[in-house]
Amino acid sequence: MTAATIRTVYLNGAFLPENEAHLSIFDRGFLFGDGIYEVTAVLDGKLIDSALHMTRLERSVEEIGGRLPITTDEIVAIEKRLVEENHLAEGLVYLQYTRGAEDRNFFYSEDLQPTLVIFTQQKTLEHVAAVEKGLKVKSMPDQRWARRDIKSVCLLPQVLAKRAARAEGFDEAWLIENGMVTEGASSTAYIVTRDGRIVTRANSHATLPGCTRLAVLELAREEGLALEERAFSVDEAKAAAEVWLTSASNFIVSITNVDGAAIGDGKPGPMFRRLRALYMENARRTAI
Ligand code: PDD
Repeated sequence: MTAATIRTVYLNGAFLPENEAHLSIFDRGFLFGDGIYEVTAVLDGKLIDSALHMTRLERSVEEIGGRLPITTDEIVAIEKRLVEENHLAEGLVYLQYTRGAEDRNFFYSEDLQPTLVIFTQQKTLEHVAAVEKGLKVKSMPDQRWARRDIKSVCLLPQVLAKRAARAEGFDEAWLIENGMVTEGASSTAYIVTRDGRIVTRANSHATLPGCTRLAVLELAREEGLALEERAFSVDEAKAAAEVWLTSASNFIVSITNVDGAAIGDGKPGPMFRRLRALYMENARRTAI
């Protein structure tokens, strides 16, 4: 790696070149997956849906009985500084909190100093082929734990699901439980019924409460579109007018193929185009 590509990263109070940022082998994030993460999009050098990500971060940390070492205002200031120092116009900010480092023991010391890592990653988010072409999803059993509302770093089931999907030429895995789609391996799932109703699961312990979901549903409500928060099956998706996913790294993208079956005419539909345009406009207007 050349000097020009060495990023500045944040580690426990210090801004460091990425090759000088080192963590303990005793970190509980490494040993137990005892940690929480957030991924925030950056467009035009600004953070997208930042307040939503900070609210979810605080909640996830609280749900595991942790505590952030600094305030979310301080975190946002660090994220902005990293975006600026790394000249990041478009991409992602990754944040990881862990319970901290000490000798391996399932029981942890209450006074442990948490670990906080933040780094930026360049990525084209807006003008990607998927917007015009759509994505293909493959359904498979949801093998995750029962508290998916917590944005835990234990992502092995998602890593394996995505690998299995990709091996068969699909872009994303859809995770199925009791015959219903919970969500994508790293995205929220939606269908639009033939009578124009947007359907996505209600938030619960079964899925991650998506920040992009929150923003998209708010825009849909403002537009007066019909919404139903309920689970749906793969068969219902195959018969739907449109299928979508949302995530911080994709914003909103159309799914044009589910398990090999084309959705509608196999092209991204009009409701998707409308909400993508609305989302992008809103994301820029509210970016910080
Ligand atoms: N993943 N569901 C799951 C399981 C996810 O991992 C994600 C995001 C989402 C969408 O949430 P949001 O709109 O807040 O990004 C839903 C991130 C992008 C990731 O792991 O990279």
